[in-house]
This record gives sequence, C-alpha cells and structure tokens, in this order.
Amino acid sequence: MKIALGCDHIVTDTKMKVSDFLKAKGYEVIDVGTYDNTRTHYPIFGKKVGELVASGQADQGVVLCGTGVGITNSVNKVLGIRAALVRDMTSAIYAKEQLNANVIGFGGRITGEFLICDIVEAFLKAKYQPSKENQKLIAKIDAIQVDENHQTGNVDFFDEFIQKWDEGFYHD
Ligand code: RB5
Repeated sequence: MKIALGCDHIVTDTKMKVSDFLKAKGYEVIDVGTYDNTRTHYPIFGKKVGELVASGQADQGVVLCGTGVGITNSVNKVLGIRAALVRDMTSAIYAKEQLNANVIGFGGRITGEFLICDIVEAFLKAKYQPSKENQKLIAKIDAIQVDENHQTGNVDFFDEFIQKWDEGFYHD
C-alpha cells in the first residue's frame, strides 16, 4: 500500500519517525516534504498529499503540522479527500469505517509519536464498512465540494509564498 506523507517544518522529525515506522511495517511511503525545519507553509504539503491520494497515485495519506488543524483543513479542500484530524484510536477507526476517510491528520506537537504511529496503523488496517446510511452521508459530504475554480494540479498556486521565501522574508 502506498502512503502519501506530508508535514510542515514544525514537525519534520515526527514525520520522519512515522515514515520509518510505516516502512518497517512494509508500506511504501511517498514523502512530499517538507524535509527540514526551515519555515514553510502547511497548505503546500496538504495540497500535495491530497492530490496524490485523490489521483490514485497513493492509496492513503497522512498529514502532520503543529496542531494538525492547518494541514488537515488544507488537505480536506482537495476534491475527493475526506480527512480526519484525530488524537485517539476510536476517532481514527470511526473515520475509516464510517466515513471512508482517505487521509488522517495529527498535531505533531499535540500527540506523541508512539501514539501517532499506533493510530496510523489502526487507521490503515481498518476497513470501510459500507451501509446505506453512511454511503448516503458520504455522497452528501462529497457533493459539498465545488468543482469549479479548484486548484488541483495548479503547481503555481503557492508562488507568492515561495517568492517571499526566496527573497529572505522568513527568518524563523
Ligand atoms: C506553524 O506554522 C503552525 O501554525 C502549524 O504547524 C500548525 O500548528 C497549524 O495548524
């Protein structure tokens, strides 16, 4: 199974632990970055993970930022993504079994790395349990997303961030 994995600069070390854990369990990891602790922006990596999953290039996604809030919101904006921000096993399994979530999100400064790894594994092993009720709900949730003016595939979307970065605007 291919897992797309992304984070911001706040939690790169935790992301690497998750990556090592997944590889040790036999998963193929597509790490979209960020790769160090240089200041960056979580939507860049949420978008990348979302596009890999939505296009079928990855089977599932895992995203992390400091709280998990920013990157999980970002990945959820990609058409076809159902992401859940969790810090417990029950919510992660519910997200997969009932909502067929395809991305799981964490706050790397909120939840410890051991628990994150255990929850990721439980999420990946859980199976969607289709029912008439949850299929209807998922269809409704998916239909909320609009398909016009979306930025899927727009590689220039974060140019403003990158330009400021190149100009030395960020110092932390
Ligand atoms: C840092 O950019 C921080 O705001 C981010 O990691 C995250 O906590 C946002 O939800």
